[in-house]
Amino acid sequence: TLMAIPVIDFSKLDGEERGKTLAQIANGCEEWGFFQLINHGISEELLERVKNVASECYKVEREPNFKNSKPVKLLNELLESKSSSDDQKIETVDWEDVFLLTDDNDNDWPSKTHGFKEIMKEYRAEIKKLAIKVMDVMDENLGLPKGYINKAFNGGEDKNAAFFGTKVSHYPPCPHPEKVNGLRAHTDAGGVILLFQDDEVNGLQILKDGVWIDVQPLKNSIVINVGDQIEVLSNGKYKSVWHRVLAMPDGNRRSIASFYNPSLKATIEPAQELLVNGNIGKEVEGDSETKYPKIVFGDYMSVYAEQKFQPKEPRFQAAVKAM
Ligand code: OGA
Ligand code: NI
Repeated sequence: TLMAIPVIDFSKLDGEERGKTLAQIANGCEEWGFFQLINHGISEELLERVKNVASECYKVEREPNFKNSKPVKLLNELLESKSSSDDQKIETVDWEDVFLLTDDNDNDWPSKTHGFKEIMKEYRAEIKKLAIKVMDVMDENLGLPKGYINKAFNGGEDKNAAFFGTKVSHYPPCPHPEKVNGLRAHTDAGGVILLFQDDEVNGLQILKDGVWIDVQPLKNSIVINVGDQIEVLSNGKYKSVWHRVLAMPDGNRRSIASFYNPSLKATIEPAQELLVNGNIGKEVEGDSETKYPKIVFGDYMSVYAEQKFQPKEPRFQAAVKAM
């Protein structure tokens, strides 16, 4: 298609074009919910090592088991079933291989791939710094005090309480991509997501004005997207956007998604600074009322675990009831 998500040169924040770059990021957050950063400060040399070690890890430690996975079994059953119709599609699982890296589970990280742990730790440290820079830019664009979002995610304190995870996904080639999703459509639950996607194999799409459009692969860029908690905190000025991954007939798509989320104990609510009522006499652009309830993130995650692939709006109210 002609439409492509915005590509923004993050290094220009430090120069004469700072104002223009801030505006581009504001537009990416308000109108798209997704944008790509180039010149984001993470070295190409590190990114090359990350790609190599992740692909090696998949080949050695994951691929041998994919043939026994749930999606492969379900697809085979569907193909063999005489009663299934041609347009029947699997809607209960995704055609993907996934594992999660956090600081807390590093004893369980893949261990048979030489260099995996060291390289992924180095990458996570860099991408976490980028997450904080992106949140600082959002603060500035929203007119919030510097560090506001990060502080909210840390439960109001500056300590290291926010949840920082990295999901390593592979989407192997699929013999019947019309019968299963790579990853079913959803919005992301948390804060800021930083996605390092495959250089070549596409499949990731976002829903923009009712049309699915590709998130075009762009070598060594980092795709940023807004999660549900940023939508709440910004009182809907920034929107978490529906996205999905298509299964593809050729190529094994790699995608490494890091998410900077609130602590499970943190309470998230629309920033008072963005509400007209809380700013009497000041010139504030915004709505007079909160559009979202105050929610403990852990309660939201309990609801999300059940309703990830359903419309997001009812999740906010369901999470209030869970409190
Ligand atoms: C996700 C996600 C996209 C991808 O993990 O929430 O949307 O490209 N991933 O893997
Ligand atoms: Ni997602």
